[in-house]
Amino acid sequence: MIYLDNSATTKPYSVVLETYTKVASRYFANPSSLHAFGQKVRELHEEARKQIAQLLGVHSDELIFTSGGTESNNLALKGIAHRYKNRGRHLITTQVEHPSVKEVMGELEKEGFTVTYLPVDEQGVIRVSDFEHALREDTILVSVMHVNNEVGSIQPIQEISNRLSKHQAFFSCG
Ligand SMILES: Cc1ncc(COP(=O)(O)O)c(C=O)c1O
Repeated sequence: MIYLDNSATTKPYSVVLETYTKVASRYFANPSSLHAFGQKVRELHEEARKQIAQLLGVHSDELIFTSGGTESNNLALKGIAHRYKNRGRHLITTQVEHPSVKEVMGELEKEGFTVTYLPVDEQGVIRVSDFEHALREDTILVSVMHVNNEVGSIQPIQEISNRLSKHQAFFSCG
């Protein structure tokens, strides 16, 4: 079989699998435990945290590890909306987000936030001009996926990020 569904999930590199197997089989203690084994696992976590922070160009204490995409999207979107609602209650997203974004947006609408859902063209890509028109002074959050998990369309996240560099809105790319 030729696997073509890489937008949904991609075959892991063998080096990733080897490292995962090694760490999960040797260092399985709880990193919050006080015993030496747990502390060793905590050390490995902290080492991984530093490496990831360096790769992303952020401070290591800015990273939050979660169980996956759904938890991350919930944490980021609800966290920002609730924390900054006094600055504005307008959010922007697209019509083609994963349910873990779309459903959170629906919940936020019920709480009184206004959400603009940007349409996509025939290639499945939003138009930057639509985004420009949707952006308001009271926009506090823009959430646009990078690559669509169904059709693989790539959104113009660099342009959106550039446009937001002088705007109060946070940018979530889930
Ligand atoms: C674009 C996108 N966001 C979020 C998720 C949810 O991730 P998880 O299954 O880790 O909760 C997926 C899962 O397929 C996804 O493709």
